[in-house]
Amino acid sequence: MNESLSSGLIDSFGRRVDYLRVSVTDRCDLRCHYCMPKDFKVFQEPADWLSHSEMARLIGLFARLGVGKVRLTGGEPLMRRGLAELAGRITSLPEITDLSVSTNGTTLERHAASLKAAGVRRLNVSLDSLDAGRFREITGRDCLHDVLAGLTEARRVGFAPIKLNCVVHADTPEADLARLLGYTLASGFILRLIETMPMGSAGQRFQPANLTQLGERIAQRFGLVPALDVGDGGPARYWSAGGLPALGVITPMSRHFCASCNRVRITADGTLYLCLGHENRVPLGALMRQGADDEALTRHILAGIAAKPERHEFNTEPRRIVRLMSQTGG
Ligand code: 5AD
Ligand code: SF4
Repeated sequence: MNESLSSGLIDSFGRRVDYLRVSVTDRCDLRCHYCMPKDFKVFQEPADWLSHSEMARLIGLFARLGVGKVRLTGGEPLMRRGLAELAGRITSLPEITDLSVSTNGTTLERHAASLKAAGVRRLNVSLDSLDAGRFREITGRDCLHDVLAGLTEARRVGFAPIKLNCVVHADTPEADLARLLGYTLASGFILRLIETMPMGSAGQRFQPANLTQLGERIAQRFGLVPALDVGDGGPARYWSAGGLPALGVITPMSRHFCASCNRVRITADGTLYLCLGHENRVPLGALMRQGADDEALTRHILAGIAAKPERHEFNTEPRRIVRLMSQTGG
């Protein structure tokens, strides 16, 4: 094994990249207003989507370079046919110790069991409001009920803990958040509040909430206590109830965590993005289809990691990122 392989993926700021987020499709059955414009139509060409084998090959290269954690995202990953089969290929890679999926939950009820059987360990489900009308306003569809049924089924087949992700902006009613927290506490889920990032025209329509402050206030209201380290290696800061993590905040805007960033992303066409807040990319999928062998692809991955930007500049350059969250993968 050569030196770069054995030492893993270390960027020029000394950060170790051991986490790969794979967007399996840029399509979605919802249109969350902070994520995708209602009339958005510029989707990737199906001919450019990597096949499961091509994805597994790329993920295998990252695994050999020290990536042990993979998350499948989108768009909505469950819109990709055969996702559980892809998940099974990934969990059969010996280096991969943790595979998770981020979903909007609309079709989770019919997919939860097969994902569990394929070895998916953790689920994150997006849910911004328990009010059916507000849910429709935010997502463009009237399907809160389907998401709740999906969550119940996911818990039934043994996913634990399940994290609910809620994107919060300056005008989000605090009552929505309190209602969500009441529900997650009663159901044994973890609620995570996320500051809206200015990704593309959709994200840029919103002022982010300051969750560094708001999180503290809600946690106090519910009698939660700060959790020191929940050991998930992620950017959220948590509060617990009865000794278990219950509420987390992810604060890319009010208190960024770029210094400990451990992740990179690939999109459904195999483009490697080094940072959500920059356009630096490596077209691994296109290179693979032009015939690059594993050694050449590995060199391109290493060059990309070496150029991973230090941090996003969402606060000082809020108009810089034109691509949508649904295009990059959350
Ligand atoms: N800012 C923060 N999070 C976002 N997501 C989508 N768009 C944004 C944004 N502009 C989140 C979704 C989901 C994940 C895919 O990314 O809510 O949890
Ligand atoms: Fe779809 Fe997720 Fe974007 Fe909502 S946030 S439109 S569920 S990809």
